Amino acid sequence: MSRDLDIVRSVAELRARVRYWRDQGLTIGMVPTMGALHQGHLSLVVKALEHADRVVTSVFVNPTQFGPNEDFSRYPRQEARDAELLEGAGCHLLFAPTVAEMYPDGFATSISVSGVSEGLCGDVRPGHFSGVATVVTKLLLQCLPDVAVFGEKDYQQLAVIRRFTRDLDIPVAILGAPTLREADGLAMSSRNAYLSAGDRAVAPALLRALTGIADGLRSGARASDLCPRAVGELLKAGFASVDYVEVRDADTLTPAETAERPVRILAAARLGATRLIDNIGCGG
Ligand code: PAJ
Repeated sequence: MSRDLDIVRSVAELRARVRYWRDQGLTIGMVPTMGALHQGHLSLVVKALEHADRVVTSVFVNPTQFGPNEDFSRYPRQEARDAELLEGAGCHLLFAPTVAEMYPDGFATSISVSGVSEGLCGDVRPGHFSGVATVVTKLLLQCLPDVAVFGEKDYQQLAVIRRFTRDLDIPVAILGAPTLREADGLAMSSRNAYLSAGDRAVAPALLRALTGIADGLRSGARASDLCPRAVGELLKAGFASVDYVEVRDADTLTPAETAERPVRILAAARLGATRLIDNIGCGG
């Protein structure tokens, strides 16, 4: 049965809707996104529906997590299409606030998370995780869902969100969800739309580099040998530059040399002006 997906733009309307559901004894799930939705995002909605009676998806291109030379102004915005996809996936409410609603005049607070925010994407994108932590804190407090679902695609982001949720006693269960990929292995991402046909053909080399490292770790090689070799392979495949290829402990994100404990192999590399990230698990 098809039904129209409601869209609300203010915190007051969001809270009224959540209160209405709570009064009926229903549980709430939340899926924060920046829109330009793909199947990866929709898989988070499906997961949220497995854990809650009603699901709110937010679409907000958050200015505070973009650096001055990043793609905030050209980030794809396609709300009508997003709403259609969300309705098809069974989402109950789209929360699409304006920048003024989220950051009214005089806004002066930011959440910064040390430790897990450092290194990897944190080094290459200064201020990024503080922007993410600030907006996700706001979204969770605005909605106060029972569960919120985030993708392992952004593994460091998930670790940051788990950390501040715990540290700030935000009463929301954070669930991670596996990465959805295209048939050739490229992780689905709103930014894949930026890739030229030539760069799109090179892009699956990123996952191949990660699986190569996983194979190497399994046969006893060390991360400090495998990672620089993978950087060379990525450049040879056609990547313009490589931000990092690293092996980290899957829980603490501290550097790891072997896969005796569960590790995460993470990489970020650039194809033209587009920055791709990916990661896989190994070991333990
Ligand atoms: P965005 O990039 O739109 O991603 C929204 C959510 O979808 C994140 O939890 C992300 O990890 C997940 N996701 C992205 N690609 C995925 C894939 N291929 N498979 C599974 N999940 C995937 O991440 C953000 O937005 C923002 O930083 C946000 C958390 C909304 C804060 O602004």
